[in-house]
Amino acid sequence: MAGRLRLGVNIDHVATVRNARGGALPDPVRAAHLAVAAGADGITAHLREDRRHIRDVDMARLAAELTKPLNFEMATTDEMIALAERLKPHAACLVPEKREERTTEGGLDVVGQEAALLPAIARLSAAGCRVSLFIEADAAPIQMAAKLRAPVVELHTGSWCEAVVAGEDDKAESEFRRLAEGAALAASLGLEVHAGHGLDYDTARRLAAVPDFVEFNVGHFLIGEAIFIGLDAAIGRMRQAMDEGRAAK
Ligand code: PXP
Repeated sequence: MAGRLRLGVNIDHVATVRNARGGALPDPVRAAHLAVAAGADGITAHLREDRRHIRDVDMARLAAELTKPLNFEMATTDEMIALAERLKPHAACLVPEKREERTTEGGLDVVGQEAALLPAIARLSAAGCRVSLFIEADAAPIQMAAKLRAPVVELHTGSWCEAVVAGEDDKAESEFRRLAEGAALAASLGLEVHAGHGLDYDTARRLAAVPDFVEFNVGHFLIGEAIFIGLDAAIGRMRQAMDEGRAAK
């Protein structure tokens, strides 16, 4: 029987709001502590190359202060890997990054970047980080992730979530099938399977029924909900949605 799903809360967009004013508030590290108190199983933060939300000092404080695992999302660059080697977060999630994108678009091109990923995974693993590759739920990147001996993959749920929200039922159904089949393939290859991007209560509840997923990482929706009902209540509702989805499978 599938176990309880872990919830990782991404606090990037607390920093987005802070940076809009240029001061110190709202403090993303305070949000991380609140999220942990509200039941988050871990905290995710993405230090982007352009520092548009999370900054180096935020990441250092998160690494020093958190009582739950920190998942450091990063591009596969020497600068980021060196930082992870210094901060030693619990996990390092390698994501694609383009300066012009508004958020992470598409999964990592693991098949094309095998030569760069292999030493990156080795360095991060040697630093004690559990390496995760953020990829599309297709056979080729999943098989390559296994070949590269990454212990974890995070499957990109963005296309599915967009189709659900847009009411594109046929696309949503085929995207859901792609995620479910990808999760089953990854698990069969011994990979731990996470999911993230664009999840809300509804999509998290539905995806939780797929037993191969062990962790969801959710950010933008929860920080948006927090404006209306508070972070504590938003995390509580997300937790409930995930538990209901898992129990209903
Ligand atoms: N997982 C990964 C790897 C991501 O890059 C992101 C977005 O930064 C998320 C999860 C969270 O996505 P969202 O903010 O849409 O919930």
